[in-house]
Amino acid sequence: MSSAAPSPVVAPAVNDNPTVRISKGINGLDKVVLRDFRGSSVEVYLYGAHVTSWKNEHGEELLFVSSKAIFKPPKAIRGGIPICFPQFSNLGQLEAHGFARNRFWSIDPSPPPFPVNSSNKTYVDLLLKSTEEDMKIWPHSFEFRLRVTLGPAGDLMLTSRIRNTNPDGKPFTFTFAYHTYFSVSDISEVRVEGLETLDYLDNLQNRQRFTEQGDAITFESEVDKIYLSTPTKIAILDHEKKRTFVIRKDGLSDAVVWNPWDKKAKSMADFGDDEYKHMLCIEAAAIEKPITLKPGEEWKGRQELSAVPSSYCSGQLDPRRVLQGS
Ligand code: BG6
Repeated sequence: MSSAAPSPVVAPAVNDNPTVRISKGINGLDKVVLRDFRGSSVEVYLYGAHVTSWKNEHGEELLFVSSKAIFKPPKAIRGGIPICFPQFSNLGQLEAHGFARNRFWSIDPSPPPFPVNSSNKTYVDLLLKSTEEDMKIWPHSFEFRLRVTLGPAGDLMLTSRIRNTNPDGKPFTFTFAYHTYFSVSDISEVRVEGLETLDYLDNLQNRQRFTEQGDAITFESEVDKIYLSTPTKIAILDHEKKRTFVIRKDGLSDAVVWNPWDKKAKSMADFGDDEYKHMLCIEAAAIEKPITLKPGEEWKGRQELSAVPSSYCSGQLDPRRVLQGS
């Protein structure tokens, strides 16, 4: 694996656009900072195309990054939004969660246009291509384009476009996840809506299949579940912060819910012992039905995150309307 950071290819759009800047992050790693004139911002490291910060217009951090995160290849950054590709978890021969999260991506100077052209200019396009070394562990040629957009209302959009560029006519198959770590006030006070009554595979019980009960999900111990055939919207209600996160997704039918709780937290070198109280991973994913692409074919998977002042306590926002509304 290459651990040296190549110099980023600087797209003209990045140079010309005052809302998109490249700067040095922790340990001198390159990062791109997106800013909205109202004050919200997003930071994405080229190492892993890893979003490490998403702040609202008041400058409040909405993602969790561990105080013990190691910003040093080949370790993936603990927190933010790691990209799991081409393998989710240990569902294959590769290292856990695949290799995209610990490769150096470049800025894509000329991404193929999106079918719908948005007037929003606060975005960056990142690109990962298979290297000869990667081909030794995953023998497929691909182009993975990630667009990270900061929307006008402070929303964070991630769009992945993965193309099979195999010259030998061979298809390839992959699993995928946006492994988003949300920052929450207190995990015991949080509930997740949108996954009730769904089937899930429990990673803590040999991925056996169970059916979730009818109530919103709350947390009182370790959880590591893959919910199947999930709706396009999921909400995280944080009573104490009076904030609701809304996850909208497209092309990603599964949703992983993960919190390591106290025991596992202690076994993780890059995670503080008590930090499990302040994070929750909800991961928009394609796992149960892996994606197969023939040469020349492209897959698209999109996640859009918004944080709305809640809500639930004050009755200003009905979470069911969050889930059903536009
Ligand atoms: C989750 C998995 O997606 O990621 C868990 O379901 C895993 O099983 C967790 O422990 C963290 O993975 P990693 O490789 O970043 O430590």
